[in-house]
Amino acid sequence: MTCKEAAPRSGLGLASSHMKVVLTHALPDDAALRVDRLGDVCSWTGAGPMPRGALVEAMADADGLLCTLVDTIDGDLLDLAPGLKVVSTFSVGLDHIDLAACAARSVAVGHTPDVLTETTADTAFALLLAAARRLREGIDYVRDGRWQEWDPDLLLGRDVHSTRLGIVGMGRIGTAIARRGVAFGMTVGYWSRTAKPEAEASLGAQRLALDELLETSDHVVVACALTDDTRHIIDARALDSMKSSATLVNIGRGPLVDTDALVRALGSGSIFAAGLDVTEPEPLPADHPLLSLSNCTVIPHLGSSTVETRSAMAHLAVDNLAAGLLGEPLPRPADVG
Ligand code: DGY
Repeated sequence: MTCKEAAPRSGLGLASSHMKVVLTHALPDDAALRVDRLGDVCSWTGAGPMPRGALVEAMADADGLLCTLVDTIDGDLLDLAPGLKVVSTFSVGLDHIDLAACAARSVAVGHTPDVLTETTADTAFALLLAAARRLREGIDYVRDGRWQEWDPDLLLGRDVHSTRLGIVGMGRIGTAIARRGVAFGMTVGYWSRTAKPEAEASLGAQRLALDELLETSDHVVVACALTDDTRHIIDARALDSMKSSATLVNIGRGPLVDTDALVRALGSGSIFAAGLDVTEPEPLPADHPLLSLSNCTVIPHLGSSTVETRSAMAHLAVDNLAAGLLGEPLPRPADVG
């Protein structure tokens, strides 16, 4: 861990140089320079995620915390920094933060919605196409030198265009995925806690009960937030109700899907394929059963991972941090209830 005093001020959203900021991960672009100007910064510079022990140590007297989705922010951690004003997460997802504990301590919470929506929807569609059209198997086939002839039966996938797309969670990212589906000639159904009249009007999306959505969709994309209500929303029963020709994509959070049940469903052919950006556990060990299944495509939580989007997320996270340190309204506050 490295701790250093505030860099000289130069007009970028400034707090007091007496403020202490904890940064759990290096930031891309020049966002880190902006953090340096906000106060004294303790940042994790070691390999891998900041260990809990180092975070606990760094939090003493902290005024602001800029964390990522791998850091668990709970009441015990907040209690180490009674003067903490703001937690700014470099993510749209908030499941790693105890929002009630933050609210109880008047700690503002900021996150990074919108700037990653389109990029994450692109990733979801890339996974859908890769899984339904068996790209991973095709790539292995060529690389392994097995490509000898053109064969009418070779690695037959399932159509994506002109099929029924089912979206579990019709928030910003779910809606952006639906737009891509419509461009592929798909009809769109969705399950969501609240109706989305705009998506219904502009995309012809139809709100369905979860059971009906799973039973009738050719491809299912899970894009909801992880909460106590949505944990394992795709369980053995849900997988069983899907078509045997169906593809499942998870772009939300790993625990939305029951991993053991998914391994069984893919292994038995009760669903056709899966494309996963997120897994439970995460990171997924290299010897995990999911990785031995040829009909499962797994990527390491890359949903928002482009140069442009990660830069935009970093700057928005710094904007939230700076505003919180100054006691101003955050540009993108989380709903802390
Ligand atoms: C987020 O921001 O929550 C995403 O999972 C990162 O891609």
